[in-house]
Order: sequence, then structure tokens, then C-alpha cells
Amino acid sequence: MSDSNLNLRTLIDSYRPNYSLPASFYNDVSVYKHDLKAIFYRKWIYAGHSSQLPEPGYYFLVEFGSESIIVSRGKDQEIRAFANVCRHRGSRVCLEKSGKSRTFVCPYHAWTYDLDGSLRSRREMPEDFQRENYGLKSLRLSVFHGLIFINLDPNAPDLDQGLSAMDPALKIYKLEKTKVACQKTFSVEANWKLAIENFMECYHCAPAHSEYSCSHALNTPKDYEALRPAMLELSEQLGYQVESLDQSNPADEDCIQYFYNRSAMYESYVTGSQNGKPVAPLLGDIKQYGGGAADVMFGPATYAILYADHAVFYRFLPTDVHSTEMEIIWLVNEQATEGKDYNLEELTWLWTVTTESDKTIILNNQKGVDSKFYEPGPLSNMESYITTFVEWYLDQIKIEA
Ligand code: FES
Ligand SMILES: [Fe+2]
Repeated sequence: MSDSNLNLRTLIDSYRPNYSLPASFYNDVSVYKHDLKAIFYRKWIYAGHSSQLPEPGYYFLVEFGSESIIVSRGKDQEIRAFANVCRHRGSRVCLEKSGKSRTFVCPYHAWTYDLDGSLRSRREMPEDFQRENYGLKSLRLSVFHGLIFINLDPNAPDLDQGLSAMDPALKIYKLEKTKVACQKTFSVEANWKLAIENFMECYHCAPAHSEYSCSHALNTPKDYEALRPAMLELSEQLGYQVESLDQSNPADEDCIQYFYNRSAMYESYVTGSQNGKPVAPLLGDIKQYGGGAADVMFGPATYAILYADHAVFYRFLPTDVHSTEMEIIWLVNEQATEGKDYNLEELTWLWTVTTESDKTIILNNQKGVDSKFYEPGPLSNMESYITTFVEWYLDQIKIEA
């Protein structure tokens, strides 16, 4: 680490295990910039689901830190990622968050790019201008079970190298045969780590999420342990992988993190819905309801809850030191029809009310952390994953960016 990072080193050394982090980790601009370089600009980041690009020309943007990435489907059906930076004088090319287009036209001087990123037309350029040298910059992209991941680092290891261990746990869900039924974005004026830490513990579930707590047994360690053996037995009979997978603190720091675990739901709840009853047709190869839910993590900032009839994906992206975008998508069987097989309000009820509460909680947390009276506090037995996350995070930022 260079001299200019000496303060960061001192800050890292001031961390006390099993306590929350010192305030600067949550509100200092130089730490935030270092987080981007050490994590978001070099790790595989979940971008979206392939059903969001149903045909050639569809695209969406993924934006974090100072970067904007175009993810689009080409005429050859290939999904690609490009830096959303014009090769003329650097303007953003796509301004809409998502859409469908035959070409990408820069709004500044109208340089026009094909869906494969190549520069098609440019006005009034010198005779010797070589347009083949000025395509949009291509970024690494990999699709895993229908999930699109991007990486801004050309030297990162392949995605499969880290995630293939998840294949057996995911295959029953056939996520590649699902479609996005709904997408919602919640912006919270808080540091990305506070948003993730909130997602990593269920200590707050009982006081904050009555809707979640009456259905999912994760909120009480006693219930979690008591219901787990029968849930695992049923899960096994139903064909789910029952063995947990945990590379949340990987020995190989360059591999993508992952986590898979099944957790029980209370009797009469077969899915994450208001009344416990199904809200959509079964996913993939799943033959019947029951067996609890799977809690899954992909990479540093994406979590999913997989039910028998739908999946909910959370993507947390930092947009500023005090600003995080939480995007949720709800995936259902690709054969399902809205209005006939599922109702959007029923499908999205649980994780909408839960996220609205979380948004307030996270914001209140940031406000307190920003006070001169804040000091790191001790974690409970139900917050061990925060320690796992924080220790992984501290290891990452030690790497010279
Ligand atoms: S900056 Fe895009 S065409 Fe000029
Ligand atoms: Fe929460």
C-alpha cells in the first residue's frame, strides 16, 4: 500500500473484530473511492437476467461509482457489455436506463454504434479516420443460469472458475427458464456497506419485519434450529440440494463469493406470500410446494431468495459515498402469464414491504453513524455474517488498487 493510503491502513487496523466498522468506512469519500477500485471495478458483478433482453436491440444500463455499462443483445443473439462512453469526446451514449434500439446514437455529435459496439457512422471526420479503431469499449460478460455478470477488469479470472460449485444447487430452479415479472428500484441515501450489512443479518427481522417474521423461521434461532431437520428431510425428498455451500470468505480472494443455504418457513407457508399460499406456477423441475426457501449470494453485492414458485434477486450498487441503489427483480416461470397465473401485487407484496422498511432502517443507521457520538458497537450472535462480510471487505481493500 502506498504512503497516500497510510490513513486507510490505520483505519483498517482500528477495526475491532465482532464490532461494527468505524464511521469513516461508511462516510469518507476516499474510502468510498477505494472501495470502488478494490471491489466494484475488479470483481464480477451481477448485472441482470437474460430475459430482460428478450430480442436483439434490447439493452439496459448498469451504473455504479462513476461507471455506466450498456448490456445489450446483438443481432446474433449474443449478450454483450460496453462502456457507455463515446469514443469521440466521451459523452454518455445511452441515456435511458433501458430500452430497445437498432443502434446506439451518441446524443452529442451523433456518432452511431451498431449493437455489436462497432462504430457505424461519424460525420465530417478526416479522410484517414479509421472507424474500426473506435468501437465502444467491450467489457467482460458471462451468463450463468440465465444470470448476467459483468467485470470491468480484463485480467479477472473467469466467472465459472468461482461459481460452478453452485450448479447442483441451482439446476432444479432452471433460472434460465424464468422471466422478470417485476423490477423495482429503491434508492437509499446510505453507504453501500450499511445496505449490505442490513441484508446479512436477521437480528432486526423480528422488530422490523412482521410480514417476513410470520412466514420465515430465520428470525428466531430457536425456531430455525427446531424446524430445520424436518425441512431438510422434505427438501431432500423434493430434489433440492440440502448441503449448504459457503464461499462467503473465499480462500482464493480472486474468485467470486457465493453462498447457498436452505431455511425453513412456518407451517402453512409454502412460499414468500402474504397468506402463505402459492403466488405463481412452480419453477423449473420442482414438482411440489414445501421444503422452505433457499437464501443465496452471488458476488459481493447480490442476494436472492429462491422459493418453489418465484425467485427474488437483490442487487446493491453504490452510486455515491452516501447513496446506494437497491434493485429487486421477481422471476417467475417463463411460461407463466400475468393476470392468469400470477398477480403482480401478490407476487411482490412481501419483499416490497420488507424493502420499504429496510430503506428506512438503513437511512436511520447512516444518520447515526454520521453523528460525532457514533462509535462501533458489539454484534449479536445473530450477526455473524456481518463479521464474515466485514473481514472479507477489509481483506479486499488492503489490495493496492
Ligand atoms: S461525444 Fe459522442 S459524438 Fe461527440
Ligand atoms: Fe431487513
